[in-house]
Amino acid sequence: MHTNFKEVIDPGSTEAVLLSQIDLKRLPQHVAIIMDGNGRWAKQRGKARIFGHQEGAESVRSILDTFARLEIDAVTLYAFSTENWKRPEEEVSALMQMLKHYIKNEIDEVHENRIKFCAIGNIEGLAEDVREEIRKAEEKTADNKGTKLNVALNYGGRAEIVDACRKAFSEMNAQGVQPAEFTEQHIEQNLYTAGLPEVDLMIRTSGEMRISNFLLWQVAYSEIYVTDTLFPDFRREEIFKALLDFQKRDRRFGGVVSTGGS
Ligand code: IPE
Ligand code: IPE
Ligand code: MG
Repeated sequence: MHTNFKEVIDPGSTEAVLLSQIDLKRLPQHVAIIMDGNGRWAKQRGKARIFGHQEGAESVRSILDTFARLEIDAVTLYAFSTENWKRPEEEVSALMQMLKHYIKNEIDEVHENRIKFCAIGNIEGLAEDVREEIRKAEEKTADNKGTKLNVALNYGGRAEIVDACRKAFSEMNAQGVQPAEFTEQHIEQNLYTAGLPEVDLMIRTSGEMRISNFLLWQVAYSEIYVTDTLFPDFRREEIFKALLDFQKRDRRFGGVVSTGGS
């Protein structure tokens, strides 16, 4: 078994079997996850939605631990969208409190796993106490060389592209670059994900077949994996299944698949 998992997976378990089937040389470099289905998970158990969010936080812990052990380069988690403000005020404030406490309580373990934490989205639009935890977490993990973790908060994909264009235009203005010279690179370099590998796998839990304004630019050639599993149940075994599914895909990027023949 992969040595990094020896202490956490029993040989002979389903997880061990799945792990043995994963080709460690062909892992995705950047995985994005739409963490959906917390509310439904709680509802199925006759509980308030916030219980689902709390269980979802455990899934985040499992994802980070697993990706750090697999040495995956980057992961971007969709935690709160610009549209999520439309939810009842009670749920929004509970989510924000949870987020703050989660960052505060988990950051030591994140740091021990050599993960570099970064919040992406319209961070200025969050309350000062939440921003303060984000700042501390980013500072603490700034020099870590392991998995890069982006948490998308108050994030919208269209807003990100508009933002990137604004930055690009002001750079172009300053350098006297003409509109005809404007390229994809100008946008790319100003996205929150600049400098990270392409998102090669996008996962959505809870069966919804939509992108919900997440990483609209970056998803151009991502493989998309949708599972019916609700996010609070998306733990190591489900992560391994997603990675195995990814490895079955033919990534053609508009070209012709190479069969090894003539
Ligand atoms: C995802 O779960 C968590 C956030 C959007 C913060 P939901 O809260 O959307 O759960 P469902 O979709 O209602 O089941
Ligand atoms: C997407 O889930 C946003 C996050 C996971 C943070 P939603 O539950 O908000 O998306 P819709 O409303 O089903 O499109
Ligand atoms: Mg949802």
